[in-house]
This record gives sequence, structure tokens and C-alpha cells, in this order.
Amino acid sequence: MANKVNTIGVLTSGGDAPGMNAAVRAVVRKALNRGMKVMGIQRGYKGLLAGEIREMSRKDVSDIIQKGGTVLGTARCSEFRTEEGQAKGAEMCKKFGIEGIVVIGGDGSYRGAQKLAEHGINTIGLPGTIDLDIACTDYTIGFDTAINTAMQAIDKVRDTSSSHERCSIIEVMGRNAGYIALWCGVANGAEDILIPEKYGYDEQEIINNIIKSRKKGKTHHIIINAEGIGHSTSMARRIEAATGMETRATILGYMQRGGSPTCKDRYYASIMGAYAVDLLAEGKTNRVVGYKNGEFQDFDIDEALAMTKEIPEYQYDVAKILSM
Ligand code: ADP
Ligand code: F6P
Repeated sequence: MANKVNTIGVLTSGGDAPGMNAAVRAVVRKALNRGMKVMGIQRGYKGLLAGEIREMSRKDVSDIIQKGGTVLGTARCSEFRTEEGQAKGAEMCKKFGIEGIVVIGGDGSYRGAQKLAEHGINTIGLPGTIDLDIACTDYTIGFDTAINTAMQAIDKVRDTSSSHERCSIIEVMGRNAGYIALWCGVANGAEDILIPEKYGYDEQEIINNIIKSRKKGKTHHIIINAEGIGHSTSMARRIEAATGMETRATILGYMQRGGSPTCKDRYYASIMGAYAVDLLAEGKTNRVVGYKNGEFQDFDIDEALAMTKEIPEYQYDVAKILSM
């Protein structure tokens, strides 16, 4: 069947995530395979407004699948939040002949894509964020790499924490979502897991647990604290004062966003990239690709943004039981 659009653009936006390169590569190669022209847009919406746009060939995406970050660069762009900025973005697309665009980013980036769709540019979003906080999908590009990176780092902190018989509070990313903390908390065998979705944690209970487990001879106490709760340094000071156990805070920070993507991130991002191109070829717009109930699917952006996502209660309960 003939393609409904013949020239497409691709950009990465918001926080970078490992696997974005695999998605870009898949978009470029799948589009070329369908006889489309592909324009790479640098630095997200910022680059779109500045016209930092160039045609991409198969070779432009060779040797990138294994690389962290995004070869297209990414940015946060306040101008694109304005109506003028959005209209200019659509004009730039038209100037460069871009009829459809693949936006790889988080839900903020989807809102931008929605606006381009309103201006007549066909848009498809791909979930690119380490936070796993996009409701329509059980998978987001970069989450798997981020949790593995964080897990390895936490194992290392645990080694030194045990040697020194210390309590360690390790803060992981996730913005307002606790998925990285929950997964690492379980995978690292943490004694406590603090996530914003269950903010009502009881610091006194943590203190009592530490005192109890010290008496039983436990040599360390690992608390995984989600960024959405934060304040790890002051929490460490309070816990040390109340328990007498030396307590250190470690904020893992941006290392969680970098590094070579895992096999899962490369694979899912590749399939999603190709899927996005097929949607554009069919003339679809204002859609996002997700992985839900064991299959790749697409959703209307408005509906996807209206969906909500909860931490699965059973998984949280298990995490609490295992940490005792
Ligand atoms: P993420 O995509 O990771 O959620 P942001 O929320 O920072 O990251 O969004 C990335 C970019 O998407 C923003 O810098 C802005 O350019 C664009 N964007 C975010 N929200 C909107 C909005 N409501 N309307 C238009 N563009 C938006
Ligand atoms: O969305 C990914 C993420 O790393 C969040 O976990 C974090 O809150 C945020 O981005 C940090 O953003 P910035 O790169 O703007 O500091």
C-alpha cells in the first residue's frame, strides 16, 4: 500500500534515556525501507524551532544501537509551550517538507506532539523515559537500563555499608514516580523502600526497625528513597541521631540516565521505532506507541494522557514483606 506520508522527522525530547538511539535507528531504517525520506531534528523542540534539521541515511544510524544518550541530542524548550512556538514548530516542519514526526520522550513531549498534530503535522509518540511513569504502557525506553545501573551501584554501596556497619539511604531518580525505587528496593534486598505514591511512611517506624535489627546483629540497613520523596541528607542526619548508627546518604543522580542500553531496551525501542513509522505510513496521527498486556499497541494521545497509573498494590505489599 502507498505511504500516506513520504517525509518524516524524528526527534528526542525531555530527559534522555538509554535506548533512544535504538529507537532513532529503527525509525530511520524502517522509514527508508518503506521508501520514505527521514529528517533528523537535533535538540528536541528547541532544534525544531531553530531549524536544526538534516536528512538522515542508513549510515547515520550505524554504530549507535549500543550507545547511551541520544545522538540527536535533547532539550527542554519553554518556547514550545507557547502557542506561537507551536505554530512556528509546525511551520518549520512544513518548510522542511516534514509531513509526519516521531517524538521520543515522556508525557511532556507528548503534549508538544499533540500541539503539532493540531497544526496538521501527523505525530506519533514513543515512550522515552527512565521513570516508567507513562500510564498507557507497562514499558518505557530506558527504564530497564536505569534499574540495572542503579541496582549495580546500590550493591556497591551495600558492600561498604556492611563493612562499616552503617545505615545507607540511597536516593534514586523517578521524578514523581516510585518505580525505580520499588524495583531496586526488591532487587537489592533493601530494608526499607520509600516511594512518593505511598508518602505516608513513618520515619519513627524505620528508626525502630533499625534499632531492632542492630540488636539482632544485622550489620547494615539499606533504605531506597525515591527522588519524589527526596531529602535523603537530612533524613540521614535524623536517623543517625535517633539510632546512633552511622548513616550516610548517597544520591545516585544522572549516572542512572547514562550507559549502554540493556538488550531489553534495545529490542523494545527497535520494535517501537518501526511500529511508529508504520503508523505514520498508514496516515495515523496523534497516537503513542505502548507495550501493554504483552503486546505492542497504539493509543490516542489525548486518551493516553488522561490515563492514570498506580503502583501495583500486590507488588508493593510483597516488597514490604521481603524487606522485613
Ligand atoms: P518529558 O518529555 O520527559 O516528560 P518535559 O516535561 O520536560 O519532559 O517535556 C519536554 C518538552 O516537551 C518541554 O521542554 C516542552 O518543550 C515540551 N512540552 C512539555 N509540556 C508541553 C505542553 N503542555 N505543551 C507543549 N509542549 C510541551
Ligand atoms: O525524567 C527523567 C528524569 O531523570 C527524572 O527522573 C528526573 O526527575 C528528571 O529527569 C531530571 O531532569 P533534568 O535532566 O532536567 O535535571
